[in-house]
Amino acid sequence: MKKIWAVLLLSLFLTGCVTNQEDPVFENDLKIPSPTVASTPTPSTAPTPIRIEGHIGISIPLDFMGPWEGNGNTLKGTIEKAGGTVDLRFADNNSATQEKQIEEMILEGIDVLIVAPVDGYSLSAVLKKAKEASILIIAFDRLVMGTDAIDYYVAFDNEIAGALQGQYIVDSLGLTGEDRGSYTMEVFAGAPNDNNSQLFFKGAMDVLSPYIKSGTLVIKSGQGQTEDAWKKVAMTGWETDKAKIRMDKLLKSYYTDENIDAILCPNDSLARGIVASLEAAGYGAEGKPFPILTGQDGESENIENIIEGKQSMTVIKDTKRLVDRTMIMIWQALSGDRVETNAGFNNDAIDVPSYLEIPIFVDANSY
Ligand code: BGC
Repeated sequence: MKKIWAVLLLSLFLTGCVTNQEDPVFENDLKIPSPTVASTPTPSTAPTPIRIEGHIGISIPLDFMGPWEGNGNTLKGTIEKAGGTVDLRFADNNSATQEKQIEEMILEGIDVLIVAPVDGYSLSAVLKKAKEASILIIAFDRLVMGTDAIDYYVAFDNEIAGALQGQYIVDSLGLTGEDRGSYTMEVFAGAPNDNNSQLFFKGAMDVLSPYIKSGTLVIKSGQGQTEDAWKKVAMTGWETDKAKIRMDKLLKSYYTDENIDAILCPNDSLARGIVASLEAAGYGAEGKPFPILTGQDGESENIENIIEGKQSMTVIKDTKRLVDRTMIMIWQALSGDRVETNAGFNNDAIDVPSYLEIPIFVDANSY
């Protein structure tokens, strides 16, 4: 662990910060080319503090796991403090509920809709209606696919989130050293209807693939060996129980006479299921150490698991940073200013002007 930090901190000092963020706890300095990043943004022209006039609808997929409850409430509080009024809805992870809630917000007369879709592929019809009502639409954290109604997208760079996870596995197992040996690993991906899932997987697999190809990392199940095979290891609804069930099967089928050394897991809800499965199979006991296990979101239960050595790391996406960027976007768009972007995403309909923030990770040394 100490070695990873030494390497990261050293490279950070040698090359300087990779982002324009102001108060990072830690920065990563991975040299991962993100195909989505198009240009360096110019400094914001938005005033401080930002004032926002108008009625803002916030449509968030759920409030019972992940970053969502915090995201929704922080957005609401920040907008209200800036002078706007807010209708915040959580959709209970149900796409039909989300569609209905957005319909209601349109009728209510919102000026702006901030939306993180439950299902990235099923909001086209309702967003068309929102566009017809001249509502400014900003996709938040998750991109809405297949619609030209989205004006802007604000998120963390999801490929970098995945790359942090992949690099953590490489560094923890010492795979770049000369005496690298061979290690067993299994890989998981997020929900198939969440555009982020593929990006997390790609970011991680770009780092891990060379080691898989050379046989340094061995996926004994053979499942999800390549970047395009992510749907084979995708977990519907990002559900903890589904991850436990799959991990149980993997352990029973492939790891009865050998321990598993590493698990690529895209987020904390899935990591909790994997930890439950590992514990049930006796990991954590003498001669059966917990494997390297990645996560994302920094949920409190997962931080506990990191402290106890059951999970290795989690990617942190500071809600305040995303909310502040959303506020700048709204202000710039509503005041007719040029909206700053630093990336563009094709959502299978248009290139959506986007702003990506850079995530970081924490582990037992830094939580
Ligand atoms: C978010 C992750 C989250 C996952 C499940 C993704 O779209 O980017 O932070 O863990 O959804 O809620």
